[in-house]
Amino acid sequence: MENQLKLVAKSYDRHFIEYGNKDAPSYDNLPDYITNDPDYSLYRTELETGSGGSECISIKDYLSPRRNMNFIDLGCCLNLMLKGYDEWPSTYYGVDISKETILLLNEFVNKNSLAIGDLYHGSIHETPYEDNYFDIGACIGVLEYYEKDFVEKVIIEAHRILKPNGKLVLDIPNIKSPTGRIMMLIEEYLGRPEKFSLSPQEFESMLQDYFEIEKTNRTDNESEVMGFGYYLRCKK
Ligand SMILES: C[S@@+](CC[C@H](N)C(=O)[O-])C[C@H]1O[C@@H](n2cnc3c(N)ncnc32)[C@H](O)[C@@H]1O
Repeated sequence: MENQLKLVAKSYDRHFIEYGNKDAPSYDNLPDYITNDPDYSLYRTELETGSGGSECISIKDYLSPRRNMNFIDLGCCLNLMLKGYDEWPSTYYGVDISKETILLLNEFVNKNSLAIGDLYHGSIHETPYEDNYFDIGACIGVLEYYEKDFVEKVIIEAHRILKPNGKLVLDIPNIKSPTGRIMMLIEEYLGRPEKFSLSPQEFESMLQDYFEIEKTNRTDNESEVMGFGYYLRCKK
């Protein structure tokens, strides 16, 4: 697990050193074995027409951020800078394993004199926050990098820091879909292989002691989409 955390951090650090504050992966330089894959165009279409990232409006709609609410963004990337999270009325806390990400965010916060809660450089499975501190949280595009044991630790940590009845939105990859397979090829090429291996049913049974699933896009046709989103209520 330590090695995987280092690989993921290194890959995102390298990305931000090379591309500055642009968070989309560069598709210009992908190798032929990926771009010539018969499912690659399907992947691009889903990426361009889908709404899977942290910008997805249904995340904000579900979390309903308000003043005096603490919001935790687990694996925050540059959401505060690029995805409009700086305009949420709640107080922003971001955690990311990439040091370069946190450096860029700190510059952005200082330059714009933003009032936020905190930015923490570290892993989401061990955060420095008190029990029951957050009203709402999100963990989007992160669990895909990790094996079962780590995923379970993240669920337990998110449960610990959220208030009773707090809301959490997270997603997991659909490892059975053709577009999920292309995403895995790309992430591996970028030096951060995806290790997630749970079926949605296994993931849901892992959640059940900690969160109630209020909404999900998970269907029984597992080949349909690249990933599944879960809108959760903290059980305490
Ligand atoms: C694919 S990006 C997702 C960005 C954003 N949440 C979105 O969906 O648009 C993954 C982010 O999670 C961070 N990350 C990955 N593993 C992490 C971990 N164990 N702890 C904290 N951050 C992590 C990466 O550094 C990166 O910024």
